[in-house]
Amino acid sequence: MLDLIIEGGIVVTANDRFLCDIGVKDGKIVEMAVNLDKEAKEVVDATGKLVLPGALDVHTHMAMPFGGTIVADSYLSGTRAAACGGVTTIFDYPVQRKGGTIMDLINSKKAVLEKEACVDWASHCIITDFNDGQILEEMEEAVKEGITSYKCFMVYKKAGMMVDDGMFATLLLRAKELGALVNVHAENSDMIDYFEAKFKREGKLSPWYHYLARQEFVEAEADKRALHWCKHLDAPLYIVHMADKEGLEACIEGKKEGVPIYIETCPQYLEFTCDVYKREDGRNFVCSPPIKGEESRQALWEAIKKNQVDVVATDHCPFQSYEKDWGIDDFTKIPNGCAGVENIYPYMLDAANSGKITFSQAVALCSTNPARIFGCDKKGAVRVGNDADIVIYDRDKDFTISVNNMHSDYDHTIWEGKKLHGYPVKTFLRGQLVYDNGDFVGKPGMGRFVKRVPRS
Ligand code: URP
Ligand code: ZN
Ligand code: ZN
Ligand code: ZN
Repeated sequence: MLDLIIEGGIVVTANDRFLCDIGVKDGKIVEMAVNLDKEAKEVVDATGKLVLPGALDVHTHMAMPFGGTIVADSYLSGTRAAACGGVTTIFDYPVQRKGGTIMDLINSKKAVLEKEACVDWASHCIITDFNDGQILEEMEEAVKEGITSYKCFMVYKKAGMMVDDGMFATLLLRAKELGALVNVHAENSDMIDYFEAKFKREGKLSPWYHYLARQEFVEAEADKRALHWCKHLDAPLYIVHMADKEGLEACIEGKKEGVPIYIETCPQYLEFTCDVYKREDGRNFVCSPPIKGEESRQALWEAIKKNQVDVVATDHCPFQSYEKDWGIDDFTKIPNGCAGVENIYPYMLDAANSGKITFSQAVALCSTNPARIFGCDKKGAVRVGNDADIVIYDRDKDFTISVNNMHSDYDHTIWEGKKLHGYPVKTFLRGQLVYDNGDFVGKPGMGRFVKRVPRS
């Protein structure tokens, strides 16, 4: 007796599409067949619908202290929103600080997530200080505990989060030794400081100057420097939230030469251009790196179409309006970050539904590639043996994004008014229904820690 059968749907994988019924038992996909002639406690009819793997949003910041406040989504509200957008695994970015250990940090987060998480979760650990080498030692144990990716910042010097190139290289080599992967936020910190000081002196303080302080070449230099270390140290590297054409093209060239580099971008860089910073609500779009010009936007889409981008993730980091308002007269006071975890999969699937990319590409970018790159060996595909993390998608359902139909705790969204053709109608987390046609039907605490496997 199976727990669940999803019947009649069209299964989409990263390279295929076929009619198939799916049998689920104990949270796993145990059978896939055209006419599954089995008993089940529950049968869900997916005739005419697409059956997709749940997405993995490998770039989120929930409940994180940042920009003088705390991110507006708790683990509970952020993962509830994730479930409602078809995301069944989120990756968190806890920040290690001077004197702090990796496992104390991860365990303190686990204590909260075990109570609050509505979808499964994994943690990349942000490293800001090596504690005289103790962190490099500890990484070995942490990798065994499933923490197989680490992040560093080439920026945020004033917040005490930046690493210099020496630390960056050390981290790259240590991670390589352990089968772990380094993620990097690439922008040139000194250029940003120079431009911010200049614009302040000149009284240029609108959100437009957030963009000008961190424009295309400021990101590109850091992308290329990161690529350079990755190439010459032959150590795998994942560049997060890439937004500029010049850096992107350099990394694509690197890939062609066999450099072990991975490229992530985010929906905000695919949808908007830097013109949003001239709008009256420009501060709501302030994130780092900032959204770039139309040339970069187009280059990112072209790269996606050619399978040269590995992952689309959100950098979900929302703040409330009153917090964004701190920067009404001074862009440097705006907490950096935007919402996205509930929008990413519907947004990329809408691009597939309109023929811009294929459904398989959307699945690869949001689910299969992130699962593979970050060692989630039971996720990222509708396949026998995998967790039954499944999204049923209705290609004909129209949906207009509004803060009123989102399931987060923030009070505004940069996606307000965006019309989508096609939308998820059900999300299953390990076989349990967590989202049903507009409503969250899961429970906090359902989410489990994903213990990841190191790279071979
Ligand atoms: O603006 C952003 N991206 N905020 C979150 C922190 C980061 O850099 O990813
Ligand atoms: Zn970042
Ligand atoms: Zn981020
Ligand atoms: Zn239609």
